[in-house]
Amino acid sequence: MALADRLIARIRSNGPITFASFMEAALFDPEDGYYTTRAAIGFEDADYFTSGDLGPSFGRALARMAIDAHTALGRPAAWDLVEAGAGRGIVMRDLLAALERERPDAARGARPAIVEVSPRLRDLQAIALGGRELRWATAAHGLAPIHGLIFGNEVLDAFPVHVLVRTEDGVREVYVAAEGSRLVETLRAASRPDLRWRVPETLPMGGRWEVSLAAESWVAQIAAALTRGYLLLIDYADDEAGLLARLGEGTLRGFSRHRLMGDPLQRPGEIDITATVNVTAIRRAAEGAGLRLAGARTQREVLLALGAREAAARPSTPLEQLRAASRRSAVDTLLDPNGLGAFRVLLFAKDAPAAGFRAFGQERREVDRPRAWR
Ligand SMILES: C[S@@+](CC[C@H](N)C(=O)[O-])C[C@H]1O[C@@H](n2cnc3c(N)ncnc32)[C@H](O)[C@@H]1O
Repeated sequence: MALADRLIARIRSNGPITFASFMEAALFDPEDGYYTTRAAIGFEDADYFTSGDLGPSFGRALARMAIDAHTALGRPAAWDLVEAGAGRGIVMRDLLAALERERPDAARGARPAIVEVSPRLRDLQAIALGGRELRWATAAHGLAPIHGLIFGNEVLDAFPVHVLVRTEDGVREVYVAAEGSRLVETLRAASRPDLRWRVPETLPMGGRWEVSLAAESWVAQIAAALTRGYLLLIDYADDEAGLLARLGEGTLRGFSRHRLMGDPLQRPGEIDITATVNVTAIRRAAEGAGLRLAGARTQREVLLALGAREAAARPSTPLEQLRAASRRSAVDTLLDPNGLGAFRVLLFAKDAPAAGFRAFGQERREVDRPRAWR
């Protein structure tokens, strides 16, 4: 039975489910969830692309971040390099290749690992990383104790969100009900009383507010598995003030074949559903779990500080010139202040120095000189 039909049957027998439960099923149902069965990341035959799809520059920048983490930790002979939610595995592949080139000693001691819930994506990761010795786990505690760097690009945005709405009758939660053969929204009392208090008082009447309890507890679980080192999170995100400035429109959206889908309730399991990450809430969860914020910048600032615009050797043949132009255009996309460049990069430390990261150093004005390198 299709996932939509199974959800309708479940709602008919047990009543409406929260939007968070719907999103959990749509993305991670063991038989039909989007991430379990069909997540398609990249350009061809895909639903959306991420920074790693734009060539090796992103992985190289993360390798430099890993080098700084390794140095700040006193250059341990053995250390963990863990990617959480690794998609097709190409960021880890590019990162390891750059690490081997730039700091072979750090690369030799690195114990690479991936935390991944999707069996389908694990298979793709094994192909991308073919031949490498790598550990996999479905949760961070499966790799504990972790001493080193854990990083995740566009993972937090894949966690289910509760959706709260300010109404004349107080705060209500969005549930999913069945109307004939269609899934539709309905409002009910909040599924947990504490969710009501999470809605800012200045949210306008009718405004929507998303709370990802799942993302917050995931960050806390990672913090518990990390004994010493860093957690690096990169995502489309905003702080509470920025989210409020959107006048309560909410940020939930669905993607299929690079197109924005109007109604995320239709075709569950077939489309990606995602929401903008609330940086304020994630920071609170991380700090509550014993992590300390060591750096916060945009992807553009971080990549520029890590040399994303460094020119390779001067191209001498027309083919090399063409390749260099395509690399430059990929880097421009990574740095686009209205796109990927606006993503937030958060670095948290646990029992480790907060200083020493080029990505968050003082050189910001020096390096942020668009196109001066050309
Ligand atoms: C939007 S994709 C991003 C993939 C990759 N990082 C990239 O940049 O292309 C989200 C990734 O997080 C994984 N994921 C979702 N929930 C997870 C969880 N609880 N633990 C680990 N990985 C998770 C998904 O399976 C997928 O690999």
